[in-house]
Amino acid sequence: MDRFVIKGGVPLKGTVAISRAKNAALPIMAAALLTDGQVVIKDCPRLVDVKAMTAILRVLGAQVKRRGDDLVIRASGRIRHKAPYDLVRKMRASFCVLGPLSARLGHAEVSHPGGCVIGDRPVDLHIKGLEALGARVRTVGGYVVAEATPLVGATLYLGGPSGSTVLGTANVMMAATLAHGRTVIENAACEPEVLNLIDCLNRMGARIRFSGNKRLEIRGVQRLRGVTTRLIPDRIEAGTFMIAAAATRGDVTLKDICLDHMHAVVDKLRDVGVVVTPVGKRACRVTASGSFRPADVSTLPYPGFPTDLQAQLMALLTVADGVSVITEKIYPDRFMHVGELARLGARLRKEGPHAIITGPAKLSGAPVMASDLRASAALVIAGLMADKETTVNRIYHLDRGYERMERKLRKLGARIRRVSDSEPIPQV
Ligand code: EPZ
Repeated sequence: MDRFVIKGGVPLKGTVAISRAKNAALPIMAAALLTDGQVVIKDCPRLVDVKAMTAILRVLGAQVKRRGDDLVIRASGRIRHKAPYDLVRKMRASFCVLGPLSARLGHAEVSHPGGCVIGDRPVDLHIKGLEALGARVRTVGGYVVAEATPLVGATLYLGGPSGSTVLGTANVMMAATLAHGRTVIENAACEPEVLNLIDCLNRMGARIRFSGNKRLEIRGVQRLRGVTTRLIPDRIEAGTFMIAAAATRGDVTLKDICLDHMHAVVDKLRDVGVVVTPVGKRACRVTASGSFRPADVSTLPYPGFPTDLQAQLMALLTVADGVSVITEKIYPDRFMHVGELARLGARLRKEGPHAIITGPAKLSGAPVMASDLRASAALVIAGLMADKETTVNRIYHLDRGYERMERKLRKLGARIRRVSDSEPIPQV
């Protein structure tokens, strides 16, 4: 298993190109099951999660191949209805094949994805939505089995205790594209990744209308066709690099981004004292010097501050001048990084869905353990700030969602190396 060895204290400087969004790519890959036409995803990031979804699509009978930076999917021929446990358990986004399989085959069996290190992640809303469209859904032997002949449009409300659901909206919406009649989803998620999926589906021939008040209207069609589609920039990778640039008191220009998707993040960084300057429409410069102000932040569905940047912001706030409070409203247990940040000298504690961080801490390098994708990114940021050497173990989590992170950081001047378990830890 690989690890990162980081020697902190170097301000990041230079330009970094941000990749296309993982969380847009995965549901769009699932959408390719809705057609026997060819779906080309331009500039699809090379990530472990994309490989995991590729494996699932192949098991289901689709052909998936790389053509340069693009991913080409064709789900013609016989499509199978069963997505096995061994593959689904690796990545929850694979549960997103339930809607397309139900719509295309009238029968789907997808392993229940189970729990997750970031907390309880139920799929009741996915199921509720499919049932509203007329599917009969049962859990048998750990599999969610949906029978749906035919799916019929309906009006449904898709909200749980934490508000809307991103992949639940994607799943039900994909099913509804091929249902008979009109479906209305109230309280639909409106994350940019969902809008990216809507755009792709509409270009495949679907009839989906999104109105600003979290309402989706879908008129079912008989068939969808192939498409060549583009992914939006990864706003979470962009936010991670913004925070890393600020945390090291660096000067970094991020290109290939969409600032319009990042208002809450930029606003919070500015509150803290980071200077974010737009450079044209698709780039920005991030600089920071002197001390940071503490912050009071709650994670929320889009356009609020994203839970996927909570851990990274927490790393930055450990060195802010005063007491910060982070409230996690999406995944109240997503605080695995708290204990590891403490190992680096951060002064912080978890209290229910809150983390209370007292700064400024003087971070000092140590071995730490990555527990999930975004927690790993937070530890890398902390390592970049810390004195001496930090080893971030188990970075396979990072490879799930960040493309060549260490190469991008090294280009900005960071002293960071990937080491595999068989190698001794080198000096950097
Ligand atoms: C997506 O997960 C993202 N994953 C997550 O990113 C992200 O953290 C999350 O949205 C929130 O923004 C992908 O897009 C692949 P949700 P998703 O359903 O769709 C509750 C990352 O690091 N809920 O919007 O699974 C749920 O427990 C990952 O890249 C139900 O109650 O999240 C949570 O509290 C991690 N019932 C809230 O809704 C359901 O059936 C929002 O979750 C489904 C969800």
